[in-house]
Amino acid sequence: MARSEAKLIDANIPRRGFLKFAIGLFNGLIVLLLAVPGLGFLLTPVLRKRGETWAKLGSIEQFRSGMPQKAIFKYISEADYILAEKNGFVWVVADEQGRVSVLSAVCTHTGCNVAWQPGEEKFVCPCHEGRYDLTGKVLSGPPPRSLTKLETRLENGELFIQLPG
Ligand code: FES
Repeated sequence: MARSEAKLIDANIPRRGFLKFAIGLFNGLIVLLLAVPGLGFLLTPVLRKRGETWAKLGSIEQFRSGMPQKAIFKYISEADYILAEKNGFVWVVADEQGRVSVLSAVCTHTGCNVAWQPGEEKFVCPCHEGRYDLTGKVLSGPPPRSLTKLETRLENGELFIQLPG
């Protein structure tokens, strides 16, 4: 090998190394750009912090009457990665002093919705005839426990409930 050829080869070695490094870096960036959105999509539901979710029921004044009242609220359902606005309902019960509590309408047996029966003065489940009193306590039938009492919050005269996580 002539002396001038050897010098040429030596001068190319750092440039080749730099090109290899640059191509590797470029490929790595492309892989990262493609992988991050995919990983984000897959991991978001797992990593998302479960915060408190509150739903508005309406003015507290409308719920201060004696009989339990059905209150409809809106919430965002997140089943199978699909977000959808849905309606739910609860039972708002006021005592003689006008203090309000909110009961889930979901029967604790297998999840049917209970309804207030004014004639009986009980919540009755249509599926297996479970019965609950005004406070949500089981009176008869297969339900294993009381109706769930929901956390409430008052804000500017509006009643809110905390939705189960
Ligand atoms: S689901 Fe209510 S009693 Fe069975």
